[in-house]
Amino acid sequence: MTKLIDQINDNLKNAKENSILQFNKEIAQIEDLIPLTLGEPDFNTPEHVKKAAVAAIENNESHYSNPRGIDALRKAVTQFLDNKYNLKYNPDTQVITTAGVTEGIYDVLATILNPGDNVIIPTPTFPLYQDDVILNGANSIFVDTEKDGFVLTADKLENVIKEHNGNVKAVIINTPGNPTGVAYTAEQLSALAEVIKKHNLFCISDEIYSELTYGRQHISIAKLAPDNTILLNGMSKSHAMTGWRIGFILGPKDLIDRINVVHQFAVTCVTDNAQFAALEGLTNGADDGLEMKKTYEIRRDILRAGLEKAGFHSPQPSGAFYIFAKIPEQFTQDDFEFSRQLAHEAKVGVIPGSSFGKGGEGYIRLSYAASNDNIKKAVERIQKFVQSH
Ligand SMILES: Cc1ncc(COP(=O)(O)O)c(C=O)c1O
Repeated sequence: MTKLIDQINDNLKNAKENSILQFNKEIAQIEDLIPLTLGEPDFNTPEHVKKAAVAAIENNESHYSNPRGIDALRKAVTQFLDNKYNLKYNPDTQVITTAGVTEGIYDVLATILNPGDNVIIPTPTFPLYQDDVILNGANSIFVDTEKDGFVLTADKLENVIKEHNGNVKAVIINTPGNPTGVAYTAEQLSALAEVIKKHNLFCISDEIYSELTYGRQHISIAKLAPDNTILLNGMSKSHAMTGWRIGFILGPKDLIDRINVVHQFAVTCVTDNAQFAALEGLTNGADDGLEMKKTYEIRRDILRAGLEKAGFHSPQPSGAFYIFAKIPEQFTQDDFEFSRQLAHEAKVGVIPGSSFGKGGEGYIRLSYAASNDNIKKAVERIQKFVQSH
């Protein structure tokens, strides 16, 4: 008899465990390690947001809500996106509240993909997109962006579509990006938007780091190709609310209607009282992220300057809280081995660049969502480590 475990969904058999978490687990037990590994803000959720959740619990906001989210929250998120990025969405018809952007990615890909469809994913990339593509029996077309400053150029997009005889359904954009911290400029997005419109592609734009852009305004491709773009955003990074699991999908009404079906299949609605916390965050706490950003920016400068001094060059991170640094040439081992050695000898935890796909080989990702003290100590340790090799 065939074992039950051998009878599961074939697509899932092709999925691998998340190598970022795996590597983090591998090194986490090292004594005295300074972990610059995960994308987890070290701030706590703002007090007023926590109070709003407590009040919601006491007011018995503990029932199923409207599947798309409570009315006030949908209004708040559309108002927030309008005020911040000049994006116009109808709160009644163009928004779904999800269990983080993670659920959003799943819902959108499950809605639009048929087995065998092609999805363009610029790399290095946050790994979840390809996992959900696999789960839907579709194919990822990876486009290495290393030589283009870690952005997908319009020319590259056009060429890849041509190479696949126009057989491409969607493209994923993540700006500001994980793992590189690079944010697309208005010119880059507007050139991409033209190609996306010309070929009638779905554009899935993950903008979870939109409130963390340095020295520039965040720009959304949803402004430039509104009929093609499905926008994903959420509370995790802007309000240090990773554990509350609140995100949003926004897009054209007819698409949102269909995505909402998948959302209901998966979760019915997200946690009622957490929605009230998000409501407080997006209204009275609309600028909470800006305070955190000031701190992140100081840390970014300390870390980047320290790394440069040690011989690690990186693209200017204009958003998020990551530095993607090239391992100096004197080290000939691969990025996994290098990161292992750095963890054991220098006691600094980083993520090997090739965990993020093609173009990440020979790099490491460092998260500066860590205390100033730890970042300074990590820099000293890395500099010492390089000198001793
Ligand atoms: C690019 C990107 N998208 C989505 C997520 C997940 O966000 P959420 O907590 O809203 O599920 C992360 C988390 O690290 C991320 O880096």
